[in-house]
Amino acid sequence: MTTTIGIDKMSFYTPNTYLDLANLAERDGTLLSKYHQGIGQERFSVPSHDEDIVTMAANAAATILTEADIATIDTILLATETGIDQSKAAAIYIHELLKLRPNCRAVELKQACYSATAALQLAAGYIARKPNTKVLLIASDISRYDLNTPAEATQGAAAVAMLISANPRLAILNEPSGIYTADVMDFWRPNHRNTPLVDGKLSTQIYLKASEAAYLDYLHQDGIPFAQLSQYCYHLPFSKMGQKAHERLCRLTHTEYNPETIQAGMIYNRQIGNSYTASLYLSLCSALDNRDDLADKHIGMMSYGSGCVAEYFSMTITTNYRDYRQQAQHKALLANRTALSLADYLHYWHRAEYILNEQLILPIENNGRYRLAAIKNYERRYEICNP
Ligand code: CAA
Repeated sequence: MTTTIGIDKMSFYTPNTYLDLANLAERDGTLLSKYHQGIGQERFSVPSHDEDIVTMAANAAATILTEADIATIDTILLATETGIDQSKAAAIYIHELLKLRPNCRAVELKQACYSATAALQLAAGYIARKPNTKVLLIASDISRYDLNTPAEATQGAAAVAMLISANPRLAILNEPSGIYTADVMDFWRPNHRNTPLVDGKLSTQIYLKASEAAYLDYLHQDGIPFAQLSQYCYHLPFSKMGQKAHERLCRLTHTEYNPETIQAGMIYNRQIGNSYTASLYLSLCSALDNRDDLADKHIGMMSYGSGCVAEYFSMTITTNYRDYRQQAQHKALLANRTALSLADYLHYWHRAEYILNEQLILPIENNGRYRLAAIKNYERRYEICNP
């Protein structure tokens, strides 16, 4: 029997507070239809001061890991562009919080929103060599832009945790991958900044160009033809961006545009906002949870990271995926969030750690299992609140 490799389990976490975009529309005198239809977003998650990429990542992973999984995980890969340290991998804090084995490597990967896909490919190659091991791959990011800019409405925060293994129970990673890399300045965050610099209009054009170029590379390597894919997932800085890329690829491949093949993969992202590295995999969670007809079907996956790198690939959904998706937990997580007022949103936007990053004691605000409790002498101290 051929060994397949892919996603054995997956789950996401997002902060339990959000801003409804109606608040920004009212503040700025913008029509709400600009957000709902123009960019295709309704709300975005806002992290409290005691959560960061580490706590979100640990919260996402804790719900899928069993003792048996922990015994076989020998690598944890963290994809993020919200780095908390220039040197130490945030994966090490997560390794400690999740009580992974000491005999487990821990690394952080960076290339804007793309690096979770690089991590997936690295994990697959590693598991092909060591099929009895599992890799814990987590994508975790906080999208945070300057206030009163066009990008402000596209903020968000989430982590997606995936257990990558042989003979996976959810989704099989297929060959080939189409890849495109080019040196462009569409979005970047210099070391001294807490928010990115972004050329918004250029970034949307480059996203479309890179999607097409990566897809053509995939096609030239005899990837599953576009029309034979049953669901299409995209990196979603905002859902309209994925829709535009999909329309372009439909035109390129002479495939009839059918919104039903993209919408299920946008439901969660419209409520959570941009989650950078996690966004494509959040879209995959959304598709798996919101479609019951994907057994044995192929899904197109378009990964994009500004700067830029894009990758087009496909995954085949397993026959019994509905038995292993975390549908109820995901829906409860979104249903139980609290709406913030504009004033509370601004309070959280001004993160305490950016002002007092040497000594900081943080009150309990988030209701997840893990939280950032303090920063002492520039050292981050995490704690488990609800063991
Ligand atoms: N009803 C319906 N639609 C409306 C509307 C209304 N009342 N008012 C405006 N619109 C439409 C506009 O016509 C426009 O649609 P088209 O793009 O189809 O022309 C859309 O709403 C957006 O409006 P604007 O063109 O005025 O643009 P904006 O000021 O809202 O800014 C943006 C959009 C530049 C993308 C901005 O959100 C931004 O800078 N975002 C951050 C960068 C980003 O996400 N780039 C995406 C590609 S890069 C990437 O993917 C990496 C990443 O994660 C960052």
